[in-house]
Amino acid sequence: MPFIGHAYALKKDVLGFLGSQTSKHGDRFVYYVGIEPHLFLNDPLDVESVLTSTCFAKTGARAYRNLKLVLGEGVATSEGETWKLQRKTLQPAFHYSSIEAMVDRIVLKSSLFLANMPEYAIDIKQKMLEITMSIISSVLMSTDIDNHIKKTIEALSTIQICLTKRILYPLDIPLWVPTLTNLSLKRALNTFDEIIQVILANRNFLEEAPKDMLQLLIETYGNSNKSLIKDQIITMFIAGHETTANALTWALYTLSRDFELQEQLFNEYNEFSREFEYITIKNISRLPILKSVFNETLRLYPPVWMIIRYCIQDVDINGLTIPKGTTVTMSPYTLQRNPKIWENPDQFSSIRFKNPLSDFQKKSYIPFGLGPRQCIGKDLAQIESLIVLSKLLSNYVVFSENNTLIEPEPKVTLQPKKTVYLNFKRRA
Ligand code: HEM
Repeated sequence: MPFIGHAYALKKDVLGFLGSQTSKHGDRFVYYVGIEPHLFLNDPLDVESVLTSTCFAKTGARAYRNLKLVLGEGVATSEGETWKLQRKTLQPAFHYSSIEAMVDRIVLKSSLFLANMPEYAIDIKQKMLEITMSIISSVLMSTDIDNHIKKTIEALSTIQICLTKRILYPLDIPLWVPTLTNLSLKRALNTFDEIIQVILANRNFLEEAPKDMLQLLIETYGNSNKSLIKDQIITMFIAGHETTANALTWALYTLSRDFELQEQLFNEYNEFSREFEYITIKNISRLPILKSVFNETLRLYPPVWMIIRYCIQDVDINGLTIPKGTTVTMSPYTLQRNPKIWENPDQFSSIRFKNPLSDFQKKSYIPFGLGPRQCIGKDLAQIESLIVLSKLLSNYVVFSENNTLIEPEPKVTLQPKKTVYLNFKRRA
């Protein structure tokens, strides 16, 4: 099958394919998508070398060619000096002090969305998508888009589905060709444009400009580069809302299967709330079990399950020569389940992260990436997730009526293969 390479195996079961190839060929091997060879690396030292080297870029890799159709020149898809400048512009919005200032709004949104959980089983991923979407627009853009949330989530989900299809299809088909995928993608992008118009229009009505990410963008780019402002907004939604929603979904799914752990977390939070009103970056260390549960969730179910780079200059990585033009793929999922590094790698252990990790484990734990392109929203994602989880666990017992085992499915992010329905019983 010269034209589809391993595309069929990848489309059918990427994680199974990567796992079986690693067992067969070790932590370095080549596979094909269409006629494009991809070098897969699963050794933490190789992964660290690639992610911190200047010989690799994002642009050039097939996945990024497709992502750029949606994210344009936003911070996740730009390169070189343009990227450096953008990251520098955006960074203050994610500083320690900015995140601390977001806490009360995150608490408010969590309370609003989670105050009255229904007695019937709910699609928990949908709920988490709504809450993370609402939080991002509130803390980064000081805008309440709650009336548009369902439409926005639907558009983002369509964008994800279309991108996955395009990335796994062995040929690049230009966006102007009216395939079903392209037409759906364009419709979803138009919907998203409308939401961005709402966000930008909202700013004109504010008497005093808030100190948020959107304001930093407006002050930097003004009217001169509206399309870049739009690219950054869509980037933050795509990079920040579904990733966090998936992490929360996996955490709650895991907790719904372990009542003893829920009790431990309930007691830990009770103790904590005697001293503190809110979770903040400063006091997170006082919730060691919750933190460990969240970290372990990200180990087993890293929302960004694949990281991709393109080699822009011949380079030697730990004795392996990588020629210019090679696409290199690395997977937090396989790395964080590598049996050579993690004991019982496929098992959830709530205390794994309570104990210090070995140096090798630290290098093998990269749910937020590594090096200069690592996640800009890491602290926000953590604070937000811990607040949402503690809000739920201190008020409800989480359970599933059918207790079905759910496997992960790698789309653009790592999602549950089936809808996760969970029940919430209010604590006495
Ligand atoms: C649990 C939640 C999250 C996870 C697991 C996650 C994971 C990641 C990873 C692995 C990368 C690096 C990708 C690469 O090297 O190619 C990344 C980059 C990025 N993330 Fe996150 N992320 C999360 C939440 C967020 C949030 C809340 C935001 C912002 C609202 C955000 C914004 C970004 C951006 C803009 C980048 C690109 C950074 C750059 O290229 O300079 N992420 N994320």
